Amino acid sequence: MNETKLKQLADSLTVKEKVAQTIQLNGDLLIENDVMNTGPTKELGFSDDFDLSAIGSIYNVNDPQKLYKIQQKIMAESKHKIPLLFMSDVIYGFRTIFPIPLAQAGSYDFELIKEAAQVTAKESYLSGLHVLFSPMLDLSRDPRWGRVMEGPGEDVYTAKEFAKQVVDGYQGDLSGDVVPENHVGACIKHFAGYGAPEAGREYNTVDMSNQRLFNEYLPPYQAAIEANCLLVMTAFNVLNGVPSTGNRWLNRDILRERFGFDGVLVSDYAAIEELQAHGFTKNQKDTARKAMEAGVDFDMMTPVYANSLEALAQEGPEIMSLLDEAVWRILLLKNKLGLFENPYRGLESEATGQVLTEEAKAVATRLVEKSSVLLKNEQVLPLNQQQKIAVVGPYGESKLTIGFWASVSGKPQDSVTLKEGMEQVFKQEKLSFAKGFNLFDSYEGFGPLKEGIEMLNGKIEPEAALYQQALATCADADVIVVTFGEQFLESGEGASKTNLQLPEKQKRLIKGLAALNKPIVGILYTGRPLVLTDIEPYFNSLLLVWYPGTMGGLGIANLLAGKAVPSARLAMTFPRSEGQIPLYYAQNSTGRPAVDSTHSTRFISKYSDETNEPLFSFGHGHSYGTVSGNWQQVTEAETALQFTYQLTNQSDWQLETVVHLYVKIHAASIVQPVKKLVLSEKIVLTAQENKTAKFTLPKAALSYYDNAGVKHAAAGEMTFYLSTVNSEDSLTINL
Ligand code: BGC
Repeated sequence: MNETKLKQLADSLTVKEKVAQTIQLNGDLLIENDVMNTGPTKELGFSDDFDLSAIGSIYNVNDPQKLYKIQQKIMAESKHKIPLLFMSDVIYGFRTIFPIPLAQAGSYDFELIKEAAQVTAKESYLSGLHVLFSPMLDLSRDPRWGRVMEGPGEDVYTAKEFAKQVVDGYQGDLSGDVVPENHVGACIKHFAGYGAPEAGREYNTVDMSNQRLFNEYLPPYQAAIEANCLLVMTAFNVLNGVPSTGNRWLNRDILRERFGFDGVLVSDYAAIEELQAHGFTKNQKDTARKAMEAGVDFDMMTPVYANSLEALAQEGPEIMSLLDEAVWRILLLKNKLGLFENPYRGLESEATGQVLTEEAKAVATRLVEKSSVLLKNEQVLPLNQQQKIAVVGPYGESKLTIGFWASVSGKPQDSVTLKEGMEQVFKQEKLSFAKGFNLFDSYEGFGPLKEGIEMLNGKIEPEAALYQQALATCADADVIVVTFGEQFLESGEGASKTNLQLPEKQKRLIKGLAALNKPIVGILYTGRPLVLTDIEPYFNSLLLVWYPGTMGGLGIANLLAGKAVPSARLAMTFPRSEGQIPLYYAQNSTGRPAVDSTHSTRFISKYSDETNEPLFSFGHGHSYGTVSGNWQQVTEAETALQFTYQLTNQSDWQLETVVHLYVKIHAASIVQPVKKLVLSEKIVLTAQENKTAKFTLPKAALSYYDNAGVKHAAAGEMTFYLSTVNSEDSLTINL
């Protein structure tokens, strides 16, 4: 629709109809026997006469047939025939579920991350969705917080690259009038700082200096905005005393003016109403005013806008014009998606409903191979085809490998189990399996879902018997592979923890198996870094697979067999103890560092009962061979630095190695981290190959912000670190 017609449409709406466009509801509330249902919305607090057919958007209906019917109904019954926007919590895959974002980020294979996002966009488009509530770009440095699984981890550079590729993969080329076919809008979240709740407790306050916000927490969102993401979601948290959802400075001055975002701002679930619970607003009307003033266009799942905006708009021209602005942005988005020409976008294609194609599964398998981190390897991996392999632990046969957030549109029953994967890659007669322990202590909390979970994960059996069976299964094995870690409900939203250790029964089993004195390989399934300090020594090799998604079993089996070679690096630090948290690699130096301080040992920055070091640092990750890297040369041009370096593959494997470039700026008006990542490259080396490679680093990548948000160019002495998986070479220059 051309803009003049769109303007006419906007002008033809009554205030009530405009308000209705700003409402977003969970689609399940609306559907009962395929008709619009007003009961549940009354329970939410909407008034009796609220016209549901005029609302702007619904979310989390993922069935193309249902979506088709709903849209048909809207087009038939609504006065202005404004199509509904369909959004959904598709975070790391629609039906083909990829490894969790925290895993993907560690692949440093940004091309592949983009390919996965394209697959997700296509499956979502073909299921009728218009917008996905992802990527989540909340920098996270506290593994107590359950949502670390949904984001790209602790590092700013990594999160920025991840942001750009996922947004590009979802949205495709936006230069035309309409978001192209097979693509969807990206709604990045949660603006801002949601990943830094005090004490790692979900929904808790966030308080941080402006320099930290500008240097670390805002850049990933900004990178997505520069990649033209069409939507942003607010955050639940208070940021420096003001709830993000009612924060005018954050959402207008920073998001819109400074970053140039002109798309749609959606509140997080009930976050507008919660402004009052935060103690930031007095009543519903005050809440609606503050959220509007802060520039929030969609009210998700509350009656605040529905009940109060009309009166507010009629009382004053200021709110009326803010409402007009919000509605205009919503209509522009619908227009950019081509909905006025085709309200059934994606729903009338020959391929509608097509998911889990062979191509999609191949991308997912590759991403499992590239994002599993080899934390430790005492030459036990890869396994060989002659060995008798005992696979112990519940993830041998469980299909619950897709992680918390994939359950909205994904189906665990699609997953390839480790057993199924291994049977494709190893000789069946060499494999034996035992469950070892129950992944869940009980299924009671699942209510009506109990039966389904039991089917996917097996019955709960007596732990003592499982333990004995596990030992017996290993009796004549040459090597033991043990799967362990978290179950999917232990991470994700609302899953903060204070204890990051493994449950006792898992530790007991691992120790019992180690006592058999056979080589032992651990496979760790988790949505967050855990504290493995006491258990790690029992493993000869340890492979971290996070939640690997639909193709987990096959990708992992390929790695175990050496058909694929590990190359990932950790996107988030594994602490030695919970007391060290927050522990991340890019910390500031202190005046009294633990090493090289002239003060006596008591008066330096350290703990009396633990080292400062993590168990596995950000960037850690082995491969099946070693690669060394050495600087050759650095040249300075006006706007960039060019580094030449040499890589040597010291193994007979073809290796894909992730090379990281870190910098330490020695003196600046804002104290700089001891080390920060500024570039990453993936380089393929054939067996024993020597290769010269280059990094080009724009000088702008070295700049930093002060507490007033002013940008400064870095200058003077700085040390660069060239880091391959097994070596680090440093070089100091003067700029
Ligand atoms: C989460 C969001 C999610 C929304 C809609 C909220 O609880 O914080 O990330 O998109 O629900 O389901």
